[in-house]
Amino acid sequence: MPELLAAHRAVGAFNFITLEVAEAVVAGAEAADTCVILQLSQNAIAFHGSLAPAASAALRLAESARVPVAVHLDHATEESLVDEALAVGIRSVMFDAAHLADAENLERTAAVAARVHAAGAWIEAELGEIGGKGAHAPGVRTDVEEAVRFVRATGVDALAVAVGSEHAMRERSARLDEHLIAELAAAVPVPLVLHGSSGVADAGIDGAVRAGMRKINIGTHLNTVLTAAVREELARDPDAIDPRRWLAPGRAAVAAEVCRLLDVISGRAATGHAASGTVAAGDGA
Ligand code: G3H
Ligand code: ZN
Repeated sequence: MPELLAAHRAVGAFNFITLEVAEAVVAGAEAADTCVILQLSQNAIAFHGSLAPAASAALRLAESARVPVAVHLDHATEESLVDEALAVGIRSVMFDAAHLADAENLERTAAVAARVHAAGAWIEAELGEIGGKGAHAPGVRTDVEEAVRFVRATGVDALAVAVGSEHAMRERSARLDEHLIAELAAAVPVPLVLHGSSGVADAGIDGAVRAGMRKINIGTHLNTVLTAAVREELARDPDAIDPRRWLAPGRAAVAAEVCRLLDVISGRAATGHAASGTVAAGDGA
């Protein structure tokens, strides 16, 4: 993970639930010829019932990919799940205590960061509204000084910040606070992470990266793309029984969208953002 972030202006991080989506994320990154982060969330693990099967599949896919792929545990709220992820070989985790009051978030995150670092791994954390509240809601903003203090006190390697995005949006209509992103990037000494990027259009993602976002998390949008392609295929071929008949077009659609989004994140795709003005990224991230 640190190598990927150090070598690129920003890295796309895509959530997977099914094996086919994990395969599509890797295929999309190979088609874009760039690195990618494959994320498995605590919620996805709960769906499968345990961490090891999905995590092992992701680690094997990463090993055999033609581009660098980092496997990341996303939104872990349980310390025991972080320990389990480290034990199966995941080297990058997000410990999410942003729903707690800030003091408790800081204390628990610092303790987990120490354990993760002792294992030689990398940790992302999240800082919500002062006073404690989930970070990803349209009106919530991370305070710059609070973010700096939180990173120094916990020792985390990356920070998820609240800048206007929201989780699980079905439309790409969120408006991000690019000036705040630039201020945070200039002041916070670790890479910034944008969660809820499914709700952000291409130009907004490009603007966020230009302003200093370094890890772009996308989940819901891939579910939308997968399900639309599967619906279309089942409508076209209502007699299909073998799941490969409808999973293959779903997987291909997700791979194509991952490839397209990685071009946006890496700055290779024109999004029109620069025409409306660019916020300079700070040196701090
Ligand atoms: O941690 C994962 C991301 O924040 C995904 O959010 O499903 O709204 O894109 P999203
Ligand atoms: Zn998230």
